[in-house]
Amino acid sequence: MKGLILSGGKGTRLRPLTYTSAKQLIPVANKPVLFYCLEAMKEAGIEDVGIIVGDTKKDIMEAVGDGSRFGLKVTYIEQEAPLGLAHAVKISEEFMGGDRFVMMLGDNLIMEGIKRFVESFDRDTANSHILLARVKNPRQFGVAIVKEGKVVDLVEKPKEPISDLALVGVYLFDSTIFEAVKHIKPSWRGELEITDAIAWLVKNGYTVSHHLVSGWWKDTGKLEDILEANRLVLDQLEERVEGEVDEFSAVEFKVVIEKGAKVVRSRIRGPAIIGSGTLIEDSYIGPFTSIASGCTIRGVELEHSIIMDECEIINTGARISDSLLGKNVRVVKGERVPRTISIMAGDSSFITLP
Ligand code: G1P
Repeated sequence: MKGLILSGGKGTRLRPLTYTSAKQLIPVANKPVLFYCLEAMKEAGIEDVGIIVGDTKKDIMEAVGDGSRFGLKVTYIEQEAPLGLAHAVKISEEFMGGDRFVMMLGDNLIMEGIKRFVESFDRDTANSHILLARVKNPRQFGVAIVKEGKVVDLVEKPKEPISDLALVGVYLFDSTIFEAVKHIKPSWRGELEITDAIAWLVKNGYTVSHHLVSGWWKDTGKLEDILEANRLVLDQLEERVEGEVDEFSAVEFKVVIEKGAKVVRSRIRGPAIIGSGTLIEDSYIGPFTSIASGCTIRGVELEHSIIMDECEIINTGARISDSLLGKNVRVVKGERVPRTISIMAGDSSFITLP
């Protein structure tokens, strides 16, 4: 079996971060979301993986390379515009060469991995296998209608509450899906929807089996979802302190402090992860916080946040929480008078003041 990871798209809901980087590279517990997909593929025994890339292809290619460090052989497939998930499948037909394959959305995280789905689909005769999860907001997803244990229809972003069984971003297909994508038309949002292609399979008598996911799964397309994914992954961390923690500091509960990180006169209450080369001084780092590499955090209270590489946060006064900072962001207390709030933020930034 082969693998396909979708890593194009514009990530409009995560602007301004996605102006300069791909949404699939936003870190969860200091690791890009996309890397969890690559690791899941490897764990499932897949070696040949195609990655669909778009505008952000340079970043994705730089981060993943030829895939060898994940034990994979990666082939990049360029999508000229984000024309939909089914369009991504369409342009990967040659790469698949008739093999069965598993497709993952590069911004989705699934706790239980994909091994058992891949193994059972490999032995199976079904034309497609889909993963479903019960959700409270089905209008934001593609949904499946299941009757007497069988998938009878699928609808993308339903206006009416016809089903609360959302399509999780992991799909298994055989080559009949290429037939299906040739028959569907773009949806109202101008995209070729994979949901419509699977509905075509069902309507034309092909077998689409399904599985209801019981563990957690997250589409990390929005800030709240990324913070939640970060919570869930951090909660599973195994404590590991390889950096320096001075005698005036306290490290409590599940905390990872990478080699080369320094904690001085501070309290870190996990689950939390502190990346290499980061300095935490005279600060409190609370639960569910990921701080990447090369940051300086001094005189700060910070919790439930993701801080990317090389940020500087100094003497901020109010506690910072529920935040996502891109690379190289500076949040500092000003020394000048008048004591105003001074902001230089990129397009689509948002700032909540206490
Ligand atoms: C896409 C699919 C949708 C699926 C979802 C899972 O939605 O179109 O069917 O349920 O991913 O994350 P999108 O992220 O394009 O809104």
